[in-house]
Amino acid sequence: MCGIVGYVGNDDAREIIIEGLKKLEYRGYDSAGIALYKDGKIQVRKSAGRIANLEKLIETEDLHSTVGIGHTRWATHGAPSDVNAHPHSDMANTLAVVHNGIIENYLELKEWLAKEHGVVFRSETDTEVIAHLISVYYEDDLKEAVFKAVDKMRGAYAIGVVSAKEPDKIVAVRKDAPLIAGIGEGCNFIASDIPALLKYVRRIYLIENNETVVVTRDDITIYNADRQPVTRDVFHVTWDADAAEKDGYEHFMLKEIHEQPKGLFETLNRRLDDRGNIRLDGIHLTKEEIQQFTKIYIVACGTAYHAGLVGKFAIEKLAKIPVEVDVASEFRYRDPFVDDKTLFIAISQSGETLDTLAALREAKSKGARVLSVVNVVGSSVARESDDVFYTWAGPEIAVASTKAYTTQLMCMYLIGLYMGYTKGTITEEYYRHFIDELRMIPDKLKEVLKQEDSIHEMAKGLYRREQVFFIGRGVDCGVAYEGSLKLKEISYINSFAIAAGELKHGTIALIEQDTLVISLATQDRLFEKMLSNIQEIKARGATVIGLSKEGNKEIEGQANQVIYIPECMDEITPLLSVVPLQLLAYYIARLRGCDIDKPKNLAKSVTVE
Ligand code: G6P
Repeated sequence: MCGIVGYVGNDDAREIIIEGLKKLEYRGYDSAGIALYKDGKIQVRKSAGRIANLEKLIETEDLHSTVGIGHTRWATHGAPSDVNAHPHSDMANTLAVVHNGIIENYLELKEWLAKEHGVVFRSETDTEVIAHLISVYYEDDLKEAVFKAVDKMRGAYAIGVVSAKEPDKIVAVRKDAPLIAGIGEGCNFIASDIPALLKYVRRIYLIENNETVVVTRDDITIYNADRQPVTRDVFHVTWDADAAEKDGYEHFMLKEIHEQPKGLFETLNRRLDDRGNIRLDGIHLTKEEIQQFTKIYIVACGTAYHAGLVGKFAIEKLAKIPVEVDVASEFRYRDPFVDDKTLFIAISQSGETLDTLAALREAKSKGARVLSVVNVVGSSVARESDDVFYTWAGPEIAVASTKAYTTQLMCMYLIGLYMGYTKGTITEEYYRHFIDELRMIPDKLKEVLKQEDSIHEMAKGLYRREQVFFIGRGVDCGVAYEGSLKLKEISYINSFAIAAGELKHGTIALIEQDTLVISLATQDRLFEKMLSNIQEIKARGATVIGLSKEGNKEIEGQANQVIYIPECMDEITPLLSVVPLQLLAYYIARLRGCDIDKPKNLAKSVTVE
């Protein structure tokens, strides 16, 4: 959450920082600000609302500068107002700080600063404490002052600091929140994430936890936790800059929905060898190791958690190992039973979600093997895992996750198949058949996407509703959760998902005349059971949209409207069935006039607890 950009060079820092912040708006977008060194002073300008408001505020001002830092915020401490927006300054306005994360002991520090140093606070933020703290220790070396301030701070943070006394540099620190440094020609950068810098640099340093980086025009020096300079390999970004652009689509979400066939093709084919066998290069899973695992935990948040629900079905069925799926914020505090026979699978698009990272550390400390499924190369979850299975979704910008989810599902199937085949719990024939079915998915998904216009039409009849239920059985239940989350995230409709068989144990009390229930019935084995559930809710007046495989025509007699996906094996229907639900959520939100790529109160990368 929150995005940071900093620049030191010879060009217009304001323009570069604002451009960079726009690429980080997915991290938070309730207020924005910039601090620029000009005329011997640090000039701070900030504004509540989107970056566009900040741009407007400063458009007529002469703020030409070659050094500065900027911030786009997702509020934690203090409302998203002008005064709470970052950067924050010390009392003398000598320095300015931008911050992503939370300072857990800020109240204690605030009291100390007020009492011992007469600090008068201007905002309600935890961040302001950092500015005053650095100021207390600041004599003539900003880096040293930052070191001392950081020693007093508890929590998770990435910070960037500029000072009028040393106007040629930015000092930045990383602790449990992402930070990179970009290497330019006669200029250098800091940022929370790669998209901010894609327009300017392809060579970056990934800053590690507890490291401090001092960035000047011609140099980037990284200091480790012991405050010693360290060398770091350059990370070459291979993304195409266009990958982070809308490319003619009205929203990133729609573009990303359409990118799913490609993401799935890449994620699958990069893991298949010439003979069509799954190869998990770089992932250490020998037959002996797989046989040793007595338990698997899949832990994640949000959409990634929903991918885990389907992963459980896949791995238990294929590898015959018990799998427990948990949301990361719960896992880490429930003292889970983990030992060295446990495989812990973390799923995360960003690889920076704090809850997931903390759960991973908890599992690792108890001896588990950690395998992560991650989209962002070099992210914290990836770096802290024993092995990484990268999804090849490409950069996902829309807050509501789509292509990351389907590529995560693909990884789950490949992990399950690989383990099952290696362990001998599935036959060669089934293994080959399964892979052949997976190979057909990208083309089948293109067929599903052709239904976009009819789903748009369907949305026109639904967008005024204020309540929707999603039901399903087996893997359909996991997809129901994801379909429901998509809808509520971007359209703000109160939607709720439940296992179809569980409906009768309470939730059916809410079904009345014309209640909308989206019923997933893709599983041949459970089809008749689903038809019975549909009848039960129809009997109470529900309006039903059915989602099934082509050929399951009986559903037409039960549901009011039906969406079909192409025929495929039951196990892998989620790869197709989620897509009409993504499109439905998208068009409903669009008809409601919602800000689809940046839904209210949300952020794409949640780096606070
Ligand atoms: C946030 C996003 C969700 C996402 C979740 C987990 O809540 O709004 O869309 O699913 O974080 O993110 P991760 O990057 O760990 O997959």
